[in-house]
Amino acid sequence: MNIFEKEKQLFLNTYRRIPIEISHGKGVHLIDVKGKKYLDFFCGLGVNALGHSHPRIIEAVTNQVTRFMHLSNNYITAIQVEFAEMLIKHSGMSKIFLTNSGTEAIEGALKIIRKKFGPEKKIFALTNSFHGRTYGALTLTERNKYKAGFEPMLPGISYINFNDIEDINNRIDKETAAIFIEFIQGEGGINVVSDEFAEKLNELRKKFGFALVADGIQCGCGRTGKPFSYNYYDIHPDIVTSAKAIGGGLPLGAILTSEEYANVLVPGNHGTTFGGNPVSCAAGKVVLEEIFENGLMQNALDLGRYFNRQLEELKILFPEDIKEIRGRGFMIGIELFYDGNSTVDMLKEKQILANCTNQNVIRLLPPLITTKEDIDFFLYNFHEILKLKQL
Ligand SMILES: Cc1ncc(COP(=O)(O)O)c(C=O)c1O
Repeated sequence: MNIFEKEKQLFLNTYRRIPIEISHGKGVHLIDVKGKKYLDFFCGLGVNALGHSHPRIIEAVTNQVTRFMHLSNNYITAIQVEFAEMLIKHSGMSKIFLTNSGTEAIEGALKIIRKKFGPEKKIFALTNSFHGRTYGALTLTERNKYKAGFEPMLPGISYINFNDIEDINNRIDKETAAIFIEFIQGEGGINVVSDEFAEKLNELRKKFGFALVADGIQCGCGRTGKPFSYNYYDIHPDIVTSAKAIGGGLPLGAILTSEEYANVLVPGNHGTTFGGNPVSCAAGKVVLEEIFENGLMQNALDLGRYFNRQLEELKILFPEDIKEIRGRGFMIGIELFYDGNSTVDMLKEKQILANCTNQNVIRLLPPLITTKEDIDFFLYNFHEILKLKQL
């Protein structure tokens, strides 16, 4: 029995596994057990920002493992503090709570909102949103495909139409506690919040004083060419959630708050056994240094622009295939006029890993170490695939 057959026998039936058995990774590449090398623009769903087997992450993790791997949050450790200080600095927030995952950061943020505003006030998210899989995060996730069969959801949460200024204007009032927003939606198909929507949001916040929770789990940590994607607007969130890339491949997430929200939780209100694990923080510190201080965010910005321009050229060449190119930096969506899964399969044949989301959007999340040559390799092969589709 091969591992794919064994997987079917042993695991709950929740994932459609990619039928490649990976041996190891190096930089932007994954290598399968037969030695075949793939350009990894799937990037562990946005996690492996420094690519695979980054020597500094290996060194930091090894050092930490030899000292201690876990103490519990009854202790404070230097590595947690160093990591926290850096993430606070680059997010522009005031205080932090460390978690294991993105979903867990969203759940904690939701608790802060409920505690501050009480049970009656309304909480909003946007249509097409994705915030995670546990009940609070799942309720904030708008699309029914994630929720069907798991009702009832949490009460008091509803959805404003994405980028719909009239809808947000009509729905938000003095009874509003908070709105959760991914400034670039990931799972929803790489949808960018418009400047006009952000302006209206700011105007309504001034008027009603509700909280803005920016979900930066996928679109944060330098991927879009700025520290967090809300930095593209004149927006100062009250709470920010972060995860995925910040642990360098180990489980790590964060809730960051402004000063105003820093004292809502008091001892005993919230906690986690593994959140802020010292080994994850050691890896995470390297990630933050490389991205924010050693030029990788700038790389995502510069090469992201190049990538985008080249894709726009392809769109002109293939107007019947490519509907729209969206995103910022290294968070790119290529919306096709048809289901994107066959294109993802064809890319795989060409030794490129990417992902299809929202049926017809090819989602590209290149590691932030990606070079122009890697992008050109993608572009050449994607062009070849589009030519083949014409035949
Ligand atoms: C925007 C966003 N929020 C929350 C989550 C949930 O994070 P996790 O899978 O780490 O629990 C995800 C995961 O894809 C995400 O993209």
